[in-house]
Amino acid sequence: LVMGIDSSTQSCKVVVVDDVSGRVLREGRAPHPDGTSVDPEAWWVALQRAIELAGGMADVAAWSIGGQQHGLVALDEAGRVIRDALLWNDTRSAAAAADLVSEFGAAALAERTGLVPVASFTISKLRWLRDHEPENAARVAAVALPHDWLTWRLRGFGPGDAANAGPAALDELVTDRSDASGTGYWSAATGAYDRDLLVAALGHDVIVPRVLGADEFVLDADGRRVAAGAGDNAASALGVGAGVGDVVVSIGTSGTVFAVSETAVADPSGTVAGFASADGHHLPLVCTLNAARVLDVTAALLGIDHDELSRLALSAEPGAGGLALVPYFEGERTPNLPDATASLSGMTLASTTRENLARAAVEGLLGGLGAGLDALRAHGVPLRRVLLVGGGARSEAVQRIAPLVFGLEVEVPEPGEYVALGAAEQARRIL
Ligand code: XUL
Repeated sequence: LVMGIDSSTQSCKVVVVDDVSGRVLREGRAPHPDGTSVDPEAWWVALQRAIELAGGMADVAAWSIGGQQHGLVALDEAGRVIRDALLWNDTRSAAAAADLVSEFGAAALAERTGLVPVASFTISKLRWLRDHEPENAARVAAVALPHDWLTWRLRGFGPGDAANAGPAALDELVTDRSDASGTGYWSAATGAYDRDLLVAALGHDVIVPRVLGADEFVLDADGRRVAAGAGDNAASALGVGAGVGDVVVSIGTSGTVFAVSETAVADPSGTVAGFASADGHHLPLVCTLNAARVLDVTAALLGIDHDELSRLALSAEPGAGGLALVPYFEGERTPNLPDATASLSGMTLASTTRENLARAAVEGLLGGLGAGLDALRAHGVPLRRVLLVGGGARSEAVQRIAPLVFGLEVEVPEPGEYVALGAAEQARRIL
């Protein structure tokens, strides 16, 4: 049996899968605290609970963790977490990102790392730490991402134990290409860290996880094989079986549009992030901050549930009678407008109906993702088939309106824990 884990923004999900039939035999889930800055210890507690609910690991031969990308887990030289992790959706580092762009230039950064920093990326969070918490910054001995840190803990490493603490244990940190490519100081094109950028961001050099290839593994304390793991988007590409030419549109806490591609993308406008995939390819990706929550907030405003929201949206005409919702409720990342707010326009006596508002919410959500598809296309990424996944994809209105907004055929795979399944697939491949 293999175990796949998804440590996402909202919860930890564990699947135990038969490595021959691919069947999911057991599952477990535990919630994470809310907020954009979280004590990583809470993820560790949730992970252990979810594993317990999934029947434990005694009969598991290999495991792998997929996780939310970009979060900054800063460790001191004894392997202790220095402060709450700043997550991908924490926008306090927007000015730090802008500083890095003006120091190095967008085109040069895109060339060196595949990314132009925005608030989400780890490099921007390191610069924020240097500028706002210099004492914490000075103590940083190693920097990990959420999935790297959890892999390290589950392999048996951690703070506070003389045998485990210290530089030797920090040297045991590992990551994979997909999550490394979301830091802003690693290049998917060269497969190497850009130490100069890392030092420029934080102020000094630190230990960073060793980047494992798709077929490499390490061992846990009980001798089980542990795969490299992945960023959640890359893991879900693997889980849903996306190949070259497929584009996945995922509507969860974040909205993401990404495609498995044979060539690296470097976009100096920063719209497309030049990430790597979990299987040795590339995963150019566009991420929006306002996704499933656009439906949540609209349903709450109208005092209805999601089924009723969907029914209302489908009973309005395309274009919602001219009502347009620009859904930047949490600022926005693509386009890079961290301080933006949402707005509703085109309100007339005729257009201002519950049906049109519901439709405008669905069209506004999908419009941001459609712009992401256009950006991928403009970078020569072949788009043959759209696979629509994530909690928001369960809405019938989203499923039926998406082909109209995207101008492409849309397939909706069975709902599934694709990130955890992708991680399980990684574990199966290293058996
Ligand atoms: C991608 C991104 C989000 C998180 C969500 O760049 O920031 O999709 O990975 O967990």
